[in-house]
Amino acid sequence: MQSDTNGVNVKRILVLHGPNLNLLGTREPEVYGRMTLGDINELLRMRAVEAGVDAIDFLQSNYEGELVEAIQKARGRYDFILLNAGALTHYSIALRDAIAAVPVPVIEIHLSNIHRREEFRHTSVIAPVVMGQICGFGVDSYIAALDIAIRKIQTDTK
Ligand code: DQA
Repeated sequence: MQSDTNGVNVKRILVLHGPNLNLLGTREPEVYGRMTLGDINELLRMRAVEAGVDAIDFLQSNYEGELVEAIQKARGRYDFILLNAGALTHYSIALRDAIAAVPVPVIEIHLSNIHRREEFRHTSVIAPVVMGQICGFGVDSYIAALDIAIRKIQTDTK
């Protein structure tokens, strides 16, 4: 974490969305709601600005490698990563290893409650290497994660 010239903590947050989340709004709305990814990002951006976050950046990718690279490049650039890895959550050891390799705390997010869905969604291979997991609250999962990240940046050093 860096401080500005007044000694105030600089807050930089990266929001990563995995495969198929670009389809939010039309994708299984009974499970994921009707908000589009653009709507969610805009909500987060507004809340981040209000809270005095210095930078909030967003990336959605359907490609595992692109998400791995984004996590690798976050070192030294971001204070927190908010990650909805989509289906990669359940099997991507590459994503898990990237999270473990980079000293940037990650909050795992899911719109749906993965623990009350199909059995294959009950396992998160990234859960053991993230700070914590928030799932089941729709868009509020993202908002809660953002609020926690902001509070943590202000109070913690990792
Ligand atoms: C998801 C849950 C995953 O199981 C699924 O593959 C997704 C979305 C969620 O936000 O609820 O793509 O991460």
